[in-house]
Amino acid sequence: MSTTTAARRLDVTGMVRVARERVVARIREAEVVAAALSAGRNVLLEGPPGTGKTTLLRALADGAGVPLVLVEGNAELTPTRLVGHHDASRVLTEDYRAENFVPGPLTRAMTDGAVLYVEEFNRVPEETMNVLLGVLSEREMHVPRYGRVVARPTFRLVAAMNPFDAVGTARVTPALYDRSCRVAMGYQDEDAELAVVAAATEGPDPLVAQAVRTVRITRDHPELRIGSSVRGAIDTVLIALELATVRGHGAVEDDTGLDAALAALTGKVTLADGSSRTVEDVVTDIWHRAGEELGKA
Ligand SMILES: Nc1ncnc2c1ncn2[C@@H]1O[C@H](COP(=O)(O)OP(=O)(O)OP(=O)(O)O)[C@@H](O)[C@H]1O
Ligand SMILES: [Mg+2]
Repeated sequence: MSTTTAARRLDVTGMVRVARERVVARIREAEVVAAALSAGRNVLLEGPPGTGKTTLLRALADGAGVPLVLVEGNAELTPTRLVGHHDASRVLTEDYRAENFVPGPLTRAMTDGAVLYVEEFNRVPEETMNVLLGVLSEREMHVPRYGRVVARPTFRLVAAMNPFDAVGTARVTPALYDRSCRVAMGYQDEDAELAVVAAATEGPDPLVAQAVRTVRITRDHPELRIGSSVRGAIDTVLIALELATVRGHGAVEDDTGLDAALAALTGKVTLADGSSRTVEDVVTDIWHRAGEELGKA
Protein backbone atom coordinates (compact mmCIF):
# COMPACT_ATOMS: atom_id res chain seq x y z
CA MET A 1 0.00 0.00 0.00
CA SER A 2 1.23 3.47 -0.83
CA THR A 3 2.25 5.65 2.06
CA THR A 4 2.47 8.93 0.18
CA THR A 5 0.29 11.43 1.93
CA ALA A 6 0.22 13.97 -0.90
CA ALA A 7 -2.97 14.23 -2.92
CA ARG A 8 -2.85 12.96 -6.48
CA ARG A 9 -4.76 14.50 -9.40
CA LEU A 10 -8.01 12.81 -10.42
CA ASP A 11 -9.46 12.11 -13.86
CA VAL A 12 -11.33 15.40 -14.32
CA THR A 13 -12.45 14.54 -17.84
CA GLY A 14 -13.92 11.23 -16.70
CA MET A 15 -15.63 12.94 -13.78
CA VAL A 16 -17.31 15.57 -15.92
CA ARG A 17 -18.29 13.00 -18.56
CA VAL A 18 -20.16 10.80 -16.06
CA ALA A 19 -21.76 13.85 -14.46
CA ARG A 20 -23.05 14.97 -17.88
CA GLU A 21 -24.54 11.51 -18.43
CA ARG A 22 -26.31 11.26 -15.10
CA VAL A 23 -26.99 14.75 -13.85
CA VAL A 24 -29.42 17.16 -15.47
CA ALA A 25 -27.71 20.51 -16.23
CA ARG A 26 -25.33 21.49 -13.38
CA ILE A 27 -22.44 21.49 -15.83
CA ARG A 28 -20.67 24.45 -14.26
CA GLU A 29 -20.98 22.92 -10.78
CA ALA A 30 -19.75 19.55 -12.06
CA GLU A 31 -16.71 21.15 -13.68
CA VAL A 32 -15.83 23.29 -10.68
CA VAL A 33 -16.23 20.50 -8.12
CA ALA A 34 -14.29 18.09 -10.35
CA ALA A 35 -11.48 20.62 -10.78
CA ALA A 36 -11.31 21.38 -7.06
CA LEU A 37 -11.22 17.69 -6.13
CA SER A 38 -8.66 16.91 -8.79
CA ALA A 39 -6.49 19.71 -7.49
CA GLY A 40 -6.51 17.99 -4.10
CA ARG A 41 -8.90 20.45 -2.50
CA ASN A 42 -11.77 19.57 -0.19
CA VAL A 43 -15.22 20.88 -1.00
CA LEU A 44 -18.21 22.27 0.88
CA LEU A 45 -21.39 21.84 -1.16
CA GLU A 46 -23.99 24.25 0.09
CA GLY A 47 -27.60 23.96 -1.01
CA PRO A 48 -31.12 23.22 0.17
CA PRO A 49 -32.32 19.58 0.33
CA GLY A 50 -33.00 17.82 -2.94
CA THR A 51 -30.83 20.01 -5.15
CA GLY A 52 -28.79 17.11 -6.51
CA LYS A 53 -25.73 17.33 -4.26
CA THR A 54 -25.49 13.60 -3.61
CA THR A 55 -26.38 12.74 -7.20
CA LEU A 56 -23.59 14.98 -8.48
CA LEU A 57 -20.99 13.69 -6.04
CA ARG A 58 -21.80 10.07 -6.79
CA ALA A 59 -21.38 10.70 -10.51
CA LEU A 60 -18.08 12.54 -10.01
CA ALA A 61 -16.65 9.81 -7.76
CA ASP A 62 -17.69 7.11 -10.25
CA GLY A 63 -16.16 9.14 -13.08
CA ALA A 64 -12.90 9.38 -11.16
CA GLY A 65 -12.97 5.66 -10.39
CA VAL A 66 -12.75 6.46 -6.69
CA PRO A 67 -15.07 4.95 -4.05
CA LEU A 68 -17.57 7.17 -2.28
CA VAL A 69 -18.07 6.71 1.46
CA LEU A 70 -21.26 8.39 2.59
CA VAL A 71 -21.89 9.48 6.17
CA GLU A 72 -24.97 11.16 7.56
CA GLY A 73 -23.92 14.05 9.77
CA ASN A 74 -25.85 14.30 13.04
CA ALA A 75 -25.30 14.88 16.72
CA GLU A 76 -24.50 11.18 17.24
CA LEU A 77 -21.56 11.24 14.85
CA THR A 78 -18.90 11.14 17.57
CA PRO A 79 -15.19 10.93 16.78
CA THR A 80 -15.37 7.23 17.68
CA ARG A 81 -18.18 6.58 15.20
CA LEU A 82 -16.28 8.43 12.50
CA VAL A 83 -12.84 6.96 13.15
CA GLY A 84 -13.68 3.48 14.45
CA HIS A 85 -13.46 1.49 17.66
CA HIS A 86 -11.98 -1.67 19.07
CA ASP A 87 -14.43 -4.58 19.23
CA ALA A 88 -15.28 -4.64 22.94
CA SER A 89 -15.76 -8.41 23.31
CA ARG A 90 -12.52 -9.19 21.47
CA VAL A 91 -10.67 -6.64 23.59
CA LEU A 92 -11.73 -8.64 26.67
CA THR A 93 -10.05 -11.80 25.43
CA GLU A 94 -7.29 -10.43 23.17
CA ASP A 95 -6.59 -6.98 24.62
CA TYR A 96 -6.31 -3.98 22.26
CA ARG A 97 -4.87 -5.07 18.92
CA ALA A 98 -4.87 -3.65 15.44
CA GLU A 99 -6.79 -6.77 14.29
CA ASN A 100 -9.75 -6.08 16.51
CA PHE A 101 -10.12 -2.48 15.42
CA VAL A 102 -13.34 -1.88 13.50
CA PRO A 103 -12.62 1.00 11.15
CA GLY A 104 -15.21 3.77 10.88
CA PRO A 105 -16.01 5.64 7.67
CA LEU A 106 -13.15 8.12 7.98
CA THR A 107 -10.52 5.41 8.42
CA ARG A 108 -12.01 3.38 5.57
CA ALA A 109 -12.12 6.38 3.27
CA MET A 110 -8.51 7.31 4.05
CA THR A 111 -7.14 3.80 3.55
CA ASP A 112 -9.24 3.17 0.41
CA GLY A 113 -8.49 6.56 -1.09
CA ALA A 114 -12.20 7.34 -1.20
CA VAL A 115 -14.18 10.53 -1.29
CA LEU A 116 -15.69 10.87 2.19
CA TYR A 117 -19.03 12.57 1.75
CA VAL A 118 -20.54 13.95 4.96
CA GLU A 119 -24.14 15.07 4.55
CA GLU A 120 -25.74 17.60 6.93
CA PHE A 121 -22.24 18.55 7.94
CA ASN A 122 -23.34 21.47 10.12
CA ARG A 123 -24.97 18.97 12.52
CA VAL A 124 -21.71 17.22 13.30
CA PRO A 125 -20.43 17.77 16.87
CA GLU A 126 -17.47 20.06 17.26
CA GLU A 127 -15.05 17.34 18.49
CA THR A 128 -15.79 15.38 15.33
CA MET A 129 -15.20 18.44 13.14
CA ASN A 130 -11.86 18.89 14.87
CA VAL A 131 -10.84 15.34 13.96
CA LEU A 132 -11.66 16.10 10.33
CA LEU A 133 -9.75 19.38 10.47
CA GLY A 134 -6.66 17.54 11.63
CA VAL A 135 -6.96 15.05 8.79
CA LEU A 136 -7.43 17.79 6.22
CA SER A 137 -4.24 19.47 7.33
CA GLU A 138 -2.05 16.40 7.73
CA ARG A 139 -3.69 13.75 5.47
CA GLU A 140 -2.96 11.32 8.27
CA MET A 141 -4.11 10.69 11.82
CA HIS A 142 -3.03 8.76 14.86
CA VAL A 143 -5.60 6.37 16.32
CA PRO A 144 -4.85 5.35 19.90
CA ARG A 145 -4.00 1.61 20.17
CA TYR A 146 -4.35 1.18 16.40
CA GLY A 147 -1.66 3.36 14.94
CA ARG A 148 -1.07 5.77 12.14
CA VAL A 149 -3.66 5.98 9.39
CA VAL A 150 -2.37 7.52 6.20
CA ALA A 151 -4.66 8.90 3.51
CA ARG A 152 -4.12 7.41 0.09
CA PRO A 153 -3.50 10.02 -2.61
CA THR A 154 -7.11 10.05 -3.86
CA PHE A 155 -8.69 10.65 -0.42
CA ARG A 156 -10.86 13.78 -0.29
CA LEU A 157 -13.52 15.23 1.98
CA VAL A 158 -16.75 16.68 0.66
CA ALA A 159 -19.18 18.17 3.16
CA ALA A 160 -22.76 19.03 2.25
CA MET A 161 -24.70 21.68 4.10
CA ASN A 162 -28.22 23.04 3.95
CA PRO A 163 -28.18 26.83 4.28
CA PHE A 164 -31.76 26.80 5.67
CA ASP A 165 -30.71 24.58 8.53
CA ALA A 166 -29.88 27.11 11.20
CA VAL A 167 -28.91 24.31 13.59
CA GLY A 168 -25.25 24.86 13.94
CA THR A 169 -24.20 26.38 10.62
CA ALA A 170 -22.34 28.79 12.87
CA ARG A 171 -20.39 25.89 14.35
CA VAL A 172 -18.58 25.28 11.09
CA THR A 173 -15.36 26.93 11.97
CA PRO A 174 -13.53 29.47 9.84
CA ALA A 175 -10.62 27.03 9.94
CA LEU A 176 -12.67 24.52 8.01
CA TYR A 177 -13.96 27.05 5.50
CA ASP A 178 -10.36 28.12 5.05
CA ARG A 179 -9.33 24.56 4.21
CA SER A 180 -12.17 23.93 1.77
CA CYS A 181 -13.67 25.34 -1.38
CA ARG A 182 -17.35 26.21 -1.39
CA VAL A 183 -19.77 25.54 -4.23
CA ALA A 184 -23.38 26.68 -3.93
CA MET A 185 -26.13 24.47 -5.34
CA GLY A 186 -29.37 26.43 -5.50
CA TYR A 187 -32.69 25.28 -6.93
CA GLN A 188 -32.49 24.60 -10.66
CA ASP A 189 -34.58 26.40 -13.26
CA GLU A 190 -37.96 25.04 -14.32
CA ASP A 191 -36.73 23.34 -17.49
CA ALA A 192 -34.04 21.46 -15.56
CA GLU A 193 -36.54 20.42 -12.89
CA LEU A 194 -38.95 19.20 -15.59
CA ALA A 195 -36.14 17.08 -17.02
CA VAL A 196 -35.20 15.73 -13.56
CA VAL A 197 -38.79 14.72 -12.78
CA ALA A 198 -39.45 13.30 -16.25
CA ALA A 199 -36.31 11.15 -16.00
CA ALA A 200 -37.13 9.97 -12.48
CA THR A 201 -40.79 9.13 -13.10
CA GLU A 202 -41.44 8.71 -16.84
CA GLY A 203 -44.76 10.40 -16.06
CA PRO A 204 -46.87 12.15 -18.71
CA ASP A 205 -45.79 15.73 -19.52
CA PRO A 206 -48.86 17.58 -18.17
CA LEU A 207 -48.67 15.80 -14.82
CA VAL A 208 -44.92 16.39 -14.55
CA ALA A 209 -45.43 20.05 -15.43
CA GLN A 210 -48.13 20.56 -12.80
CA ALA A 211 -46.10 18.79 -10.12
CA VAL A 212 -42.99 20.86 -10.88
CA ARG A 213 -44.91 24.14 -11.01
CA THR A 214 -46.56 23.24 -7.69
CA VAL A 215 -43.29 22.70 -5.83
CA ARG A 216 -41.82 25.86 -7.36
CA ILE A 217 -44.78 27.89 -6.08
CA THR A 218 -44.32 26.44 -2.56
CA ARG A 219 -40.81 27.95 -2.40
CA ASP A 220 -41.95 31.54 -2.40
CA HIS A 221 -45.46 31.29 -1.10
CA PRO A 222 -46.25 33.79 1.67
CA GLU A 223 -48.03 31.16 3.78
CA LEU A 224 -45.09 28.75 3.71
CA ARG A 225 -41.82 29.15 5.52
CA ILE A 226 -40.14 26.19 3.78
CA GLY A 227 -41.13 24.92 0.38
CA SER A 228 -40.52 21.60 -1.30
CA SER A 229 -37.57 20.43 -3.33
CA VAL A 230 -37.89 18.61 -6.63
CA ARG A 231 -38.30 15.44 -4.54
CA GLY A 232 -41.85 16.59 -3.79
CA ALA A 233 -42.60 16.74 -7.52
CA ILE A 234 -41.07 13.30 -8.11
CA ASP A 235 -43.16 11.85 -5.27
CA THR A 236 -46.33 13.54 -6.53
CA VAL A 237 -45.97 12.04 -10.00
CA LEU A 238 -45.04 8.55 -8.79
CA ILE A 239 -47.94 8.44 -6.31
CA ALA A 240 -50.42 9.84 -8.84
CA LEU A 241 -49.53 7.14 -11.38
CA GLU A 242 -50.08 4.38 -8.81
CA LEU A 243 -53.23 5.99 -7.50
CA ALA A 244 -54.71 6.13 -11.00
CA THR A 245 -54.10 2.38 -11.30
CA VAL A 246 -55.69 1.71 -7.91
CA ARG A 247 -58.73 3.67 -9.02
CA GLY A 248 -58.91 1.91 -12.36
CA HIS A 249 -58.43 5.12 -14.35
CA GLY A 250 -56.56 5.12 -17.64
CA ALA A 251 -55.06 8.55 -16.96
CA VAL A 252 -54.36 10.70 -13.92
CA GLU A 253 -57.43 12.84 -13.20
CA ASP A 254 -57.11 16.13 -11.40
CA ASP A 255 -58.51 14.78 -8.09
CA THR A 256 -56.00 11.97 -8.21
CA GLY A 257 -53.14 14.40 -8.84
CA LEU A 258 -54.32 16.49 -5.91
CA ASP A 259 -54.50 13.48 -3.57
CA ALA A 260 -50.96 12.56 -4.61
CA ALA A 261 -49.72 16.13 -4.13
CA LEU A 262 -51.23 16.25 -0.64
CA ALA A 263 -49.50 13.02 0.34
CA ALA A 264 -46.23 14.06 -1.29
CA LEU A 265 -46.06 17.65 -0.12
CA THR A 266 -47.89 18.36 3.14
CA GLY A 267 -45.09 16.79 5.19
CA LYS A 268 -42.33 18.44 3.17
CA VAL A 269 -43.45 22.05 3.45
CA THR A 270 -43.67 24.07 6.65
CA LEU A 271 -46.36 26.67 7.35
CA ALA A 272 -45.20 30.22 8.00
CA ASP A 273 -45.60 31.47 11.55
CA GLY A 274 -49.04 32.88 12.13
CA SER A 275 -50.63 31.24 9.10
CA SER A 276 -54.31 30.67 9.85
CA ARG A 277 -54.93 27.92 7.28
CA THR A 278 -54.03 24.25 7.33
CA VAL A 279 -51.15 22.93 5.29
CA GLU A 280 -53.68 20.83 3.32
CA ASP A 281 -55.62 23.95 2.32
CA VAL A 282 -52.47 25.74 1.24
CA VAL A 283 -51.19 22.83 -0.86
CA THR A 284 -54.65 22.36 -2.43
CA ASP A 285 -54.70 26.01 -3.51
CA ILE A 286 -51.20 25.81 -4.90
CA TRP A 287 -51.99 22.65 -6.87
CA HIS A 288 -55.00 24.35 -8.48
CA ARG A 289 -53.08 27.54 -9.13
CA ALA A 290 -50.32 25.56 -10.86
CA GLY A 291 -52.97 23.89 -13.04
CA GLU A 292 -54.51 27.26 -13.95
CA GLU A 293 -51.13 28.78 -14.77
CA LEU A 294 -50.45 25.87 -17.10
CA GLY A 295 -53.81 26.36 -18.79
CA LYS A 296 -55.58 23.31 -17.47
CA ALA A 297 -59.37 23.34 -17.34
N1 LIG B 1 -29.63 17.80 -11.52
C1 LIG B 1 -30.18 16.61 -11.26
N2 LIG B 1 -30.05 15.58 -12.12
C2 LIG B 1 -30.61 14.38 -11.89
N3 LIG B 1 -31.35 14.10 -10.81
C3 LIG B 1 -31.52 15.08 -9.90
C4 LIG B 1 -30.94 16.38 -10.07
N4 LIG B 1 -31.28 17.15 -9.01
C5 LIG B 1 -32.03 16.37 -8.21
N5 LIG B 1 -32.19 15.13 -8.74
C6 LIG B 1 -33.01 14.03 -8.19
O1 LIG B 1 -33.70 14.59 -7.07
C7 LIG B 1 -33.58 13.76 -5.93
C8 LIG B 1 -32.78 14.45 -4.84
O2 LIG B 1 -31.42 14.62 -5.26
P1 LIG B 1 -30.20 14.41 -4.26
O3 LIG B 1 -30.48 13.30 -3.33
O4 LIG B 1 -28.98 14.34 -5.08
O5 LIG B 1 -30.27 15.79 -3.49
P2 LIG B 1 -29.37 16.33 -2.29
O6 LIG B 1 -29.00 17.72 -2.65
O7 LIG B 1 -28.30 15.37 -1.97
O8 LIG B 1 -30.43 16.37 -1.12
P3 LIG B 1 -30.18 16.34 0.49
O9 LIG B 1 -29.60 17.69 0.83
O10 LIG B 1 -31.57 16.20 1.04
O11 LIG B 1 -29.28 15.20 0.78
C9 LIG B 1 -32.93 12.47 -6.42
O12 LIG B 1 -33.99 11.60 -6.77
C10 LIG B 1 -32.18 12.89 -7.67
O13 LIG B 1 -32.12 11.85 -8.57
MG1 LIG C 1 -27.93 14.28 -0.26
